[in-house]
Amino acid sequence: MESVLLVFAYFLGSIPFALLVGRIYFGTDIRDHGSGNLGATNSIRLLGKKAGAVVLAGDILKGLLAALLPFILDVQLDPLYTGAAAVLGHCFPIFAGFRGGKAVATTAGVLLVADPILCLIAFGIFFIVITLTKYVAAGSLFLAPVLFLFSLFQGNNDYTLVFALFIPFMLFLHRSNIMNIAKGIEPRINDKDIFSE
Ligand code: G3P
Repeated sequence: MESVLLVFAYFLGSIPFALLVGRIYFGTDIRDHGSGNLGATNSIRLLGKKAGAVVLAGDILKGLLAALLPFILDVQLDPLYTGAAAVLGHCFPIFAGFRGGKAVATTAGVLLVADPILCLIAFGIFFIVITLTKYVAAGSLFLAPVLFLFSLFQGNNDYTLVFALFIPFMLFLHRSNIMNIAKGIEPRINDKDIFSE
């Protein structure tokens, strides 16, 4: 039953909201524009704030639902595991040629269920880093180490292991952002022209 649930959570996470909103309402695949990311940041950048908010809500919701699955179906499985399966689906979606997003919004949905306090701390730091650097990707890159350190502090070994794996996973997903920040060409949140593409 656990493996069926994990596969179902992966499928749930694979629903590509950014692709659906882009294709249905704007006739475009946002992976061909901007950062190429199938997530809320690139959706806001390319499709505008309203469409981006819909994508953000959808991506958070699927993580939240995936994490709730063990409770809904009364299966003895930590919500972090079904949540992690949904995050994998979001980043490598079976419904979109395995080219998806960068984990952030779906992770927020998962953590809201799995550990709301940790979610608050991690995303509090996420917003502080974005405010200071003006780079969304910089905030995202802080998420995994913050989650790792706080779960270590909480003494939750299972979560610490998952978050330890999350560090290289996020570095891999954000490799182009890291290169762009180093080159000084990563869009900042206060760049007006990033919304004009
Ligand atoms: O939320 C994803 C963010 O970390 C980076 O997005 O589109 O700027 O690559 P993007």
